[in-house]
Amino acid sequence: MTVKALGGGLLAVLLAVSFCFGAAAEAPPEETTAPCPHEIMTETVVTEPTCTADGETILTCEACGEMFPVQTSALGHDYRPTETIEPTCTENGVTTYTCSRCGDAYTETVLAPGHDYQVTKTTEPTCTEDGVTTYTCTRCGDFYSRTAPALGHDLRTETIPATCTDDGRIVTKCTRCGEANSETLPAIGHQYSEWKTTKPSTWRTPGTEQCVCTNCGDTLTRSLAKLTHLAAKACPAGDADMDGKVTTADARLILRLSVRYDDGLDDEQKKCCDFDGKDGVTPADARFTLRTAVGLPAVEPEKPKTPQLAKGYVFKGYTAKNYVIAEKDGVTYIVTDHGYTLIANKTYALPASYAPGDLTAECAAAFRTMQNAAANSGIDLYIVSGYRSYSTQKSIYNRYVSRDGRAEADTYSARPGHSEHQSGLAMDLNSLYASFAYTAEGKWLAANAYKYGFIIRYPKSKQSVTGYIYEPWHVRYLGKELAADVYKSGLCLEEYFGITSAYS
Ligand code: DAL
Ligand code: ZN
Repeated sequence: MTVKALGGGLLAVLLAVSFCFGAAAEAPPEETTAPCPHEIMTETVVTEPTCTADGETILTCEACGEMFPVQTSALGHDYRPTETIEPTCTENGVTTYTCSRCGDAYTETVLAPGHDYQVTKTTEPTCTEDGVTTYTCTRCGDFYSRTAPALGHDLRTETIPATCTDDGRIVTKCTRCGEANSETLPAIGHQYSEWKTTKPSTWRTPGTEQCVCTNCGDTLTRSLAKLTHLAAKACPAGDADMDGKVTTADARLILRLSVRYDDGLDDEQKKCCDFDGKDGVTPADARFTLRTAVGLPAVEPEKPKTPQLAKGYVFKGYTAKNYVIAEKDGVTYIVTDHGYTLIANKTYALPASYAPGDLTAECAAAFRTMQNAAANSGIDLYIVSGYRSYSTQKSIYNRYVSRDGRAEADTYSARPGHSEHQSGLAMDLNSLYASFAYTAEGKWLAANAYKYGFIIRYPKSKQSVTGYIYEPWHVRYLGKELAADVYKSGLCLEEYFGITSAYS
C-alpha cells in the first residue's frame, strides 16, 4: 500500500515511531542533503489486529525506502445478541452475545419477573354456597382461586299470634336471600267463662245466660228454661219457688213480693208465700221463712224471764239451747230440770280456790255402786286419778307442756282451773290409753256408766266441741237422770247444753 499523503499528525506519530526504531538503527551519515519527507508510504500489514491482540503494520517510504513499523491496537470484541430466550413468569431468560469477529460469546440472565396475578373472576358467597375469586396471571395465564365461606342465613323471626279462631304463624326469614320457613300456631279456641245468668227465668218467661270468651270477648247466649214448681200440696209453707224446700232464696222472694216486686210468681206460688196464712204476704212471712231456712223455729220462742235461782246463784244468761247459766262463788252452773250442773271446760274455769279436797260424797258413792255392779259382771273398775287440786293440775299440765309443747298439751290436758278433776266430780278409770275403749272394762263402762250417773265426758269424734281428744277412761258424774238424758241424746255435754269449750 502506498501512502500518497499523510497528515502532519500522522506523520509526527510515524516520525516518533521512527525515532524509536531509529535508536536501534545505525546513525545516518551526516548528509548535507535535505531529509526525505516520507511523503509516500507503503503500508504492509504484518499482523492483522484481532479482537484481543494488537496487529503490526510496516510503513515503507516509497521515496527512501525507510520502514517504519506501526502497531495497530486490538480491535476489541464486537458482541452482538445472537440468541435470546425470553424469561417466563417463573423461569429466568438468557441472552447470548456473540462476537461478530471472533465468535466469542457470553450469556446474560434475565430474571423471571414472577406472575402478575389479577382478579379475573369473582363469585360472591351466598347464604348457603361458598364464594370463589379467581386470580389469573396476565402474562402466562396461570391462575388460582380463593374460597370465601358461605355466609349462613341471617334469620329474623316474626310471630303472628294465633287468635281464638285464626291460626297464627311463626315466620323465620333470611334477610339476605329471603328464604323463609313458617310454622303454624293453631288457633287457640275460645276460652269461655262459666255460664252466667243475664236474665233470670221466671215461672212465666224463660231467662238467658251468657258466657264470655276471656281471650277475645266473644259471647255465647242461650235460653234458660222457665222455672217449674211442684204441686202446691207438696210444698211447705214459705216455699215460694215451690221446689219442695224452704231456702233463703224463698225468703228473699217473699220479702220482695211483700213490697210489691214482681218476680213472676204465679198465683199458686203467691199462696205459698203467705207463710202464716194471714194478712196476705208480709215481711213477717219472709222472716218466718228465713228462720225456717236456717234451721230455727219459724217463730222465735219467747225468752224465759229471769229465772228464780237458788240462794247464792247469780243469773248469767242463756246457753244456745236456752238453758240458764248461773254462777256461784266464781263457779259456773247450767240449770236444768235436774238441778245445777257444775261446768268446768276450756270456756268456763273453776277458781283456784275451789277445792272440795276429794271426790264429792255423792260422786264417790255412785262410783262404788257402779264398781260393784261391774264386778258382778266380772268387770274390774278402779280409779287411777280422781280429785286433783288446782296446783296438782298446774304441775301436770306444765309437765305436759314441757314435753309436747302447749298446743299439743292443750288437746289432752286441761289448764289449771279448767279441769273437771278439780270439781271432785270426775275420775279416770283403769287405763289412760286409747286401747282402753276396746277392753271389756272400757266397753262395759261406755255402755253402762250412765245408769250410775256418769257419762264418758270426752267422746270419740267430739274433739272440736269438747276441746279434748277421746278419753274413754274419763267419766263425769251428772246424776242418773241427766246422765241418762245426755247418753241417750248421743251428744257430748257441750252440745247437750249448747255451750262452748274454748280458751279465750
Ligand atoms: N284430761 C282432762 C282433759 C283433764 O286434764 O282434765
Ligand atoms: Zn280425767
